[in-house]
Amino acid sequence: MAVTIKSEKQIALMREAGRLLAITHDELHKALKPGMTTLEIDRLGEEIIRDFGCVPNFKNYNGYPASICVSVNDEVVHGIPTSDRVLKEGDIVSLDAGLIYKGYHSDAARTWGIGTISNEAQRLIDVTRESFFKGISFAKEGNHLHEISAAIQDYVEGNGFSIVRDLVGHGIGTHLHEDPEVPNFRIKGRGIRLAAGMTLAIEPMVNAGGWQVACLDDDWTVVTEDGSLSAHYENTILITKDGCEILTMV
Ligand code: MF3
Ligand code: CO
Repeated sequence: MAVTIKSEKQIALMREAGRLLAITHDELHKALKPGMTTLEIDRLGEEIIRDFGCVPNFKNYNGYPASICVSVNDEVVHGIPTSDRVLKEGDIVSLDAGLIYKGYHSDAARTWGIGTISNEAQRLIDVTRESFFKGISFAKEGNHLHEISAAIQDYVEGNGFSIVRDLVGHGIGTHLHEDPEVPNFRIKGRGIRLAAGMTLAIEPMVNAGGWQVACLDDDWTVVTEDGSLSAHYENTILITKDGCEILTMV
């Protein structure tokens, strides 16, 4: 599939899809507390998204059974919410959510601490978020895609953490996953030349230990192989003539 350039009309719809997802994340963040189950997070997220008249795009995507991916501690991404997984003080939890507004997708992830967390866990969360911003400082018409990738990796590794290699970011639009793939690590070649109107989901996944991951028997939950903590941060962005616009932040 070719990389698509969105028209002004399509961009307006992507902006609204992003704005509504940003609000969803804010609401979920406010609701987080020790004792909450990951299924309660999923229920609340789905309710917020449906109240907007939108559709949760993860639900049933390749058979994924929930609306929100909830990944706790050593879980990297795609954790499946359940009624027996209870959040406790000191946990870190990654919430990955997406929605469809009038046919257009948005996708964003945040990692939060539950109550008081260790300094190292907070540093992991902060470095993961900051790596996204280091990456998008290269998101601009005329630059090449892998400049974003390299900036993310360099920042993460410079802070002593590692970047997951088995999963990557992606183009987004009328589909959740469009071309191009957006690696968070150095890769051969410069990647495509960025052009105004491209919309991308940039999503560094960062481990406190090694970069290796494994998949649990549920066929979804990705965990760190060494049991170390992992964080995830993602926004949907629009490439513009002189930079980028973050669509999933208000
Ligand atoms: N942000 C994730 C991604 O871009 C969410 C998809 S998970 C699934 O791949 F549940 F929808 F499969
Ligand atoms: Co994504």
